[in-house]
Amino acid sequence: MTIATTNRLQSLSAVSARKHIEPDEAVPGSLSRNPILPRELLSVAGLDLQLSEVQWEQLAREEMASITDAGIRFEALLMAGFAYELAYRSELLDPRVTYLLHELGEETRHSRLFLRLLEQLAPSARNPFTHGLVAKLDAFVTRRALHANALFIVFVLAGEEIPDLLQKRFSEHPDTDPFLAQVSRYHRAEEARHLAFARLLLPETWEKAGAVERFVVRHIAPMIVTGLFDSLVHPGVYETVGLPGWKTWQSVRRLPQHIELREQATRPICRALLEAGVFGTKKSEIPRSWQKLCGVGRRGSLGGDQRPRPGLPEILRRRFPQQDERPTLLPRPRLAAVPLRPASHSVQSAVTRSLLP
Ligand SMILES: [Fe+2]
Ligand SMILES: [Fe+2]
Repeated sequence: MTIATTNRLQSLSAVSARKHIEPDEAVPGSLSRNPILPRELLSVAGLDLQLSEVQWEQLAREEMASITDAGIRFEALLMAGFAYELAYRSELLDPRVTYLLHELGEETRHSRLFLRLLEQLAPSARNPFTHGLVAKLDAFVTRRALHANALFIVFVLAGEEIPDLLQKRFSEHPDTDPFLAQVSRYHRAEEARHLAFARLLLPETWEKAGAVERFVVRHIAPMIVTGLFDSLVHPGVYETVGLPGWKTWQSVRRLPQHIELREQATRPICRALLEAGVFGTKKSEIPRSWQKLCGVGRRGSLGGDQRPRPGLPEILRRRFPQQDERPTLLPRPRLAAVPLRPASHSVQSAVTRSLLP
């Protein structure tokens, strides 16, 4: 470990020790505005949906609850991965260990605050990703990633960069509920240190990574990160206001705004990987899956001839233009394609429940 790394780790620990913030004291209060988020910050912005005021309010709460739920579970996995590292690493007398313990303490405080928020949101949506094949696949990948250090750090970066951008948008919009804006500001301030720590760990974990792990980081991880991003608001959320869950979710995934937000949120990860040497020497280029995830060119630039190389769906569309109606091969925004259904009675009662936490 270089002197610069040691100094940086010690300085991160010193800041964490100095800024021990108890959220129950620093972020008191509760939600007070309805809707809690403006329509333009919801995932469906751009779908031109015709919903009642009550449905918009319900949708905002359910979307926020879905994101908050995912945040708590991500922090639990982050703590599990770091705790495993602490339990089995050969040397405990290391500034990394001290900072890890600071980070674990901070994440438990964040999760307590998120739980308080979740309780007030009182969601009624059922998350389809928590059962069946998707849940099994998720558990399979997650268990392996927890013990693969470089891959784990890539997921840590994803799990921290993506919420950072979302919370930036929440906290900076004047129509966001004041308590929610405060939660977002508090969390972003603490996560800045966590991001710095993850970026610091990336080069050294990469150096120790084996061939399989390197392949997964370079080519498979971006697909998993896309799945993480897309599942932040799950299909069950849309069903709570009478929309067809999976159909709406698919339409949201194809929205240009959604894709742009994903690219913006994940570009810092790509930059961190480039700086850590994950994509190799100057002659090499960013793998196609990372180009697609982050909307960058082969050398990490935006626009011009450095745009991402076309993927299979685009190649097929060019090769067989008459078949470009196949939705599985050619995902395209179909903004008005979501059939609307009126909210059911059960939805209305869910709305009532959510308004009276
Ligand atoms: Fe956190
Ligand atoms: Fe964190």
